[in-house]
Amino acid sequence: MMEATKAILRELGVADDRVKAEAFGAVKPPLAEPGAPARAKAAATGPAVTFSTNNKTANIRAGQTILELSEELAIGIENSCRVGTCGICKVKMTSGEVEMAVEDSLDEDDKANGVILACQAKPKTAVTVEA
Ligand code: FES
Repeated sequence: MMEATKAILRELGVADDRVKAEAFGAVKPPLAEPGAPARAKAAATGPAVTFSTNNKTANIRAGQTILELSEELAIGIENSCRVGTCGICKVKMTSGEVEMAVEDSLDEDDKANGVILACQAKPKTAVTVEA
C-alpha cells in the first residue's frame, strides 16, 4: 500500500523528498518450507495445539503463542502488529482455553464466538483452532 501511495503521489507531481513514510511492527519470520518439520528451540512440553484446517498438531513451548507455533508449522495465520491491537491474527478456537495479555481488538461478539488473537493466545489446556 505504501509503495502504491508513493507511486500515485509521484504521478501527481509530488517530489520524492516531500513524501514521508512511517512503518511499524515486527519483522515477520519466514515461513518454513511446506512439509518441513517444526524447528525445536526448547522442549515443547506445553499443551497440544491442533490447527484443524491444516490437520497439524504440536505441543507448545513455555511462553510461546499460538501464532509463533503456527509459524513453525507453516500454517499461514496472517498477522501484523503482534501486540494484540490490529486483529489481523483472529482465529476461531473450537476447544480449549487460552490466556491473552491483550485483547483490544476483540469485541464482545468475537469473545462470545470463541475468536482469539493468535499473537496473544497462550494455551492453558489442549487447544484446537480453525487455521
Ligand atoms: S497481529 Fe495484530 S492483533 Fe495479533
